[in-house]
Amino acid sequence: MFVSIEPLYASIVEDVKARVSNLPRPPKLAVVTCQPDPSTQSYLKSQEKMAKRLGIEYAVFEVPKATELKQILPKLSTDVSVDGILLTHPLPSGVSEFEVASLVSPEKDVEGRNPHSLGSILYDAFAFAPCTAEAVVRIIKYFTNPAGKRVVVVGRSVTVGKPVAMLLTQKGVDATVTICHSRTPDIPSITREADIVVVAIGRAKHLTKDYFKPGALVVDVGINVEENEIVGDVDPSVAEVCDLTPVPGGVGKVTTVVLMEHVVRAAERRILGK
Ligand SMILES: NC(=O)c1ccc[n+]([C@@H]2O[C@H](COP(=O)([O-])OP(=O)(O)OC[C@H]3O[C@@H](n4cnc5c(N)ncnc54)[C@H](OP(=O)(O)O)[C@@H]3O)[C@@H](O)[C@H]2O)c1
Repeated sequence: MFVSIEPLYASIVEDVKARVSNLPRPPKLAVVTCQPDPSTQSYLKSQEKMAKRLGIEYAVFEVPKATELKQILPKLSTDVSVDGILLTHPLPSGVSEFEVASLVSPEKDVEGRNPHSLGSILYDAFAFAPCTAEAVVRIIKYFTNPAGKRVVVVGRSVTVGKPVAMLLTQKGVDATVTICHSRTPDIPSITREADIVVVAIGRAKHLTKDYFKPGALVVDVGINVEENEIVGDVDPSVAEVCDLTPVPGGVGKVTTVVLMEHVVRAAERRILGK
């Protein structure tokens, strides 16, 4: 069946609202964008709406040239009025993500893209994790205890696949994780062994029922447009045999509130020293 993430989503929203009201000023998220495409523009609109709903100040800084990213990111990193910084994707061609993500101060890196943030996760030290990866782990923990479970992550991007695996193998989470990618032979024979499968490959409805053990929890991260509809990486028929997160209204929805939660956490650390 399709599982509902609504109660999890609603509880994060309520928690974030309460924490915002305990701060002496609204937290502020600065969004930096360079040559935004229509999908980035619509993403920004929905994010702004969510920020407003939660009482978070939202400011967009649009820079026309990629070179200006190298000026604005350090500037916002030292701006005392800014708590969190988000850099939109895709980045203009020729821009090194490693280089520009390094310019966001780790304290304000609410998207968890700075190499320092990603490295801190390896050490089980505090850092903001990439929001989508954290949303996946929160969803898994909401439905089951991952400790001792066999998890297969399909996809090895820096945004989703690798950080999901890092978070699930942290001490205290204790899952046993296998990562598959486009060069992995016979993926179904691996995913069929798993209690939990996370799919982040960017291929519409690619994984069908034969990939899964009946009763497994399947977290579909994919967002693909097919015939003007948003669809996941997992074929919806998988919901007949597994617990499947919906697309839309699954991981993406939780990701948006996790981002806002990070902004509040960054503000709490800066203003209250928590
Ligand atoms: N819900 C959200 O909030 C959210 C956030 C971010 C992304 N997404 C969605 O999640 C999906 C993945 O995003 P991403 O940024 O991780 O994508 P990405 O950077 O393109 O990485 C895709 C990964 O999938 C692997 N892959 C591709 N085809 C495969 C196949 N047939 N079998 C096995 N592995 C395959 C690739 O392997 P190689 O490394 O070998 O090339 C790569 O590791 C996309 O649909 C994206 O839109 C959703």
